[in-house]
Amino acid sequence: MTPLIERYRDRLPVGRRTPIISLGEGSTPLLAAPRLARSLGLSELWLKWEASNPTGSYKDRGMTVAVSKALGAGAEAVICASTGNTAASAAAYAARAGLPALVLCPKGAVAGPKVAQTRMLGAKVLEVRGDFDQALAAAQELARRGTHVLVNSLNPDRRAGQKTAVFEIVEELGKAPDAFVIPYGGGGNTSAYAQGLRELGLETPIVSVEAADRERTLASAIRIGHPAHAAAVQEATAQVVAVDDDELVAAWAELARLEGLFCEPSSAAGLAAIRRGDVAGERLVVTITGHGLKDTESAERYAPPPAVVDPDPDAIAGAAAAPNG
Ligand code: F0G
Repeated sequence: MTPLIERYRDRLPVGRRTPIISLGEGSTPLLAAPRLARSLGLSELWLKWEASNPTGSYKDRGMTVAVSKALGAGAEAVICASTGNTAASAAAYAARAGLPALVLCPKGAVAGPKVAQTRMLGAKVLEVRGDFDQALAAAQELARRGTHVLVNSLNPDRRAGQKTAVFEIVEELGKAPDAFVIPYGGGGNTSAYAQGLRELGLETPIVSVEAADRERTLASAIRIGHPAHAAAVQEATAQVVAVDDDELVAAWAELARLEGLFCEPSSAAGLAAIRRGDVAGERLVVTITGHGLKDTESAERYAPPPAVVDPDPDAIAGAAAAPNG
């Protein structure tokens, strides 16, 4: 697979001498979702399946650029604050580059599989007694001291990599959709999509979808009280929609059951906004940002539990016919 940096080299802030740290990111599927489109009354619905990136989320698009640039500039270590996905991505690309990664996670607020993934990838993981915003402030301060390069999306190289999702979508559709619909946590991805659209000379609206209760949503990936890119989102986005947890869970389950895509709860935010009727347009692209295996605790909480049976064909046939509990 062509590394993302090679595919879009002329539109990224890399030079001929920049080392390329790649795990085969980008070039993700753009899937038609006809059954979901019908249920939502849309003529076309496209799902950008970012879970197929190497660490299971869209963060890898930005991380390949940020870590490559950091290595090229002689960095000795990278740092990030994270609700889990940036953490895993930073850990993976740092490992690939041979650099140490320091990851600050809000204690008790990150899905277990993301922490396990990050630890397995060799990062130093610190659980901060505080929320994501406090962890990010600490990471920024350490980066200012010069010991670490910050690889959160405040780093413009991250956003440059992430804008390539828009390039892929427009290339594949042959034209822009009526709107791009994406989750909104810190807002780095909204800002990156806006940059991508500007570079293509397009004015397609971006609808950014946040959790109604930012500090307590079950969607831990976007549990961010004070988005770092709020001002940029205000400027870039056509519309900010807030969805509550019941709406998120309903959209998340519907995506899995109607289209066979198992994402993490935050990634269903865009669909939740469409289900509410808050998004204008007939031809929409929704970005599904992270894999369901990233947050198995949420799946276990909401998916129907298996029944227990003896290995007896009649008992199994009877249990199979019963409705899911
Ligand atoms: N979807 C997923 C799966 C995420 O992990 C995040 C953010 C977002 C959407 C929101 O994107 O912050 O650019 O508006 N995750 C960060 C992290 C905060 O640390 O992994 P955003």
